[in-house]
Amino acid sequence: MDTIDKTDAFICRTYMRQETAFVKGKGTKLWDESGREYTDFLAGIAVCGLGHCHPQITRAVSEQAATLVHVSNLFYTRPQADLASLLCEKSFADRVFFSNSGAEANEAAIKLARRYFQKKGETERFRIITMDQSFHGRTMATLSATGQDKIKEGFSPVLEGFSHVPFNNIGRLEKEMDDTVCAVMLEPVQGEGGVSPADPEYLKAVRDLCTQTGCLLIFDEIQTGMGRCGKLFAHELYGVTPDIMTLAKALGNGLPIGAMMATQDAADGFDFGSHASTFGGTPLATAAALEVVKIIGDDGFLSTVRKTGNYFKQQLKTLAETHERIVEVRGRGLLLGLEIDGDAGGVVAQMMKKGFIINGIQDRVLRFAPPLIIEKQEIDGLIIALDSLLRS
Ligand SMILES: Cc1ncc(COP(=O)(O)O)c(C=O)c1O
Repeated sequence: MDTIDKTDAFICRTYMRQETAFVKGKGTKLWDESGREYTDFLAGIAVCGLGHCHPQITRAVSEQAATLVHVSNLFYTRPQADLASLLCEKSFADRVFFSNSGAEANEAAIKLARRYFQKKGETERFRIITMDQSFHGRTMATLSATGQDKIKEGFSPVLEGFSHVPFNNIGRLEKEMDDTVCAVMLEPVQGEGGVSPADPEYLKAVRDLCTQTGCLLIFDEIQTGMGRCGKLFAHELYGVTPDIMTLAKALGNGLPIGAMMATQDAADGFDFGSHASTFGGTPLATAAALEVVKIIGDDGFLSTVRKTGNYFKQQLKTLAETHERIVEVRGRGLLLGLEIDGDAGGVVAQMMKKGFIINGIQDRVLRFAPPLIIEKQEIDGLIIALDSLLRS
């Protein structure tokens, strides 16, 4: 049996996959079983920010794998301590809880927000407001938080205490606010929902509203964080700071790790025994993430991401001028979306034939989230391929 047949025979049918099996990656390139080369404009869905098999990460992982892989959180380990302190140094946060995925980081944030108020005796204050078209994960709590019906289909009853309001609409959020709300949770740029950035004025108004009402503001930066939008964290572009932030995806450049980060005040909602994860923050995953934060957290690196992102967006806008099928170009940094008047899935499959990996979301949006090290000539190559495809 070949890889595709074997996978289809034995793996649960939850993923719609392209008919390609990859065997190797380096930088921005991937190779399939037949040896064919592809340029990656997806990075494992915004995960391999530093590209595939970055030598510094490979070295850190190899050395750590040969030294100590796992001991549990009943003990202390150095890479975990170093990563937590570096993440706090580079952000608003004072404390970190490590998880293995984005959904689990959000679970931690949801639990912390509820416990923060319950610990103070405010047991009725448990509601969390999130946005229409948001995406926060696939566990029961995070799918309940997600503002898309299709994600919840077949899983009712979903968890109590979540309401959704239209994104970028402060009036609707104000209406939904009352003294039962413990947190507002949102993505600074909605990723899965169609690459839709928050309006700067909106994000500032959300912060003010949360401060006035005393509820916690949670930014889900699982997709937008780690340099993806041109700053280490996307909220820095807006000058708006949350009380809690979640990270995952690019944090480990492919090693599974997530983080829930909080101010000291918010973090005090947890006590010994309130929350735990067997694998959360293993020496192996944190050793990888430590190198990632060191590289991506560098100002020079982030400035290059912003320049490349601006160039890419400009090229997409120029393309849009000559193609009526392109409805809108959206996004920040190297998280960009192209809304087209037609089926995105077909374009994705055709681009794959031309040797470019891109992604389609919400039926009509092409999403680009390449490794942050993507080069201008690779962007030019993609634009030429898209141009000829959209013409035909
Ligand atoms: C904004 C956001 N939150 C949460 C998640 C869930 O992360 P994971 O798939 O690692 O559980 C994702 C994944 O796409 C995401 O984009």
